[in-house]
Amino acid sequence: MDFIIRPVNIGDGKGINELRRMPGVFENILGIPSERVKRNEDHIVNMDSNTHQFVAVTKNQLGEEVIIGTAGLTVYANHRLRHCASIGIMIHKDYQSKGVGTALMKALIDIADNWLMLVRVELTVFEDNEKAIALYEKLGFEKEGVKKLAAIRNGKYENEFLMARISPS
Ligand SMILES: CC(C)(COP(=O)(O)OP(=O)(O)OC[C@H]1O[C@@H](n2cnc3c(N)ncnc32)[C@H](O)[C@@H]1OP(=O)(O)O)[C@@H](O)C(=O)NCCC(=O)NCCS
Repeated sequence: MDFIIRPVNIGDGKGINELRRMPGVFENILGIPSERVKRNEDHIVNMDSNTHQFVAVTKNQLGEEVIIGTAGLTVYANHRLRHCASIGIMIHKDYQSKGVGTALMKALIDIADNWLMLVRVELTVFEDNEKAIALYEKLGFEKEGVKKLAAIRNGKYENEFLMARISPS
């Protein structure tokens, strides 16, 4: 499957909103089906230089751009945490398990390692999200602990793993 990765643009809010509300995605990213496009548009407009967000884009049969995934890295603004960042990622349900998540994560890790020289990148993930955990472990993230009852999912409080990747250099 052909796709490209590019920085997020003003105008991507609608496509990102569709991803964020999609069954097969929203349950695992702390999204909510009522999330409004304006919130996603405002997020893009208000992003500061600490946030680095990419989208994965393919073309539909009409040749129009379709956003099939996005991933972002936010460097912590606090001066004493500026060597650390957090990551979030989601891929369209019809395009999962095709390497898109790997490509987006590699784009963020390149920024973290080689252009910002961060030491630590961290994230949280539901304990049973095996696909995401496999992706993160493949790219050097390790489980550091369990956040008990950390987030709501479908009527239950669920545990999350805290995972982090320490830069190899
Ligand atoms: C998790 C997610 C980001 C992964 O992206 P993706 O494009 O589907 O992942 P990729 O195809 O690049 O790679 C997934 C890896 O996990 C492996 N995998 C797939 N299903 C798996 C499973 N059930 N158990 C273990 N490993 C699995 C794949 O084999 C692949 O590894 P490989 O490249 O060594 O073969 C994506 O599926 C997604 O957005 N899910 C819904 C939202 C979400 O969970 N976001 C993360 C929140 S922390």
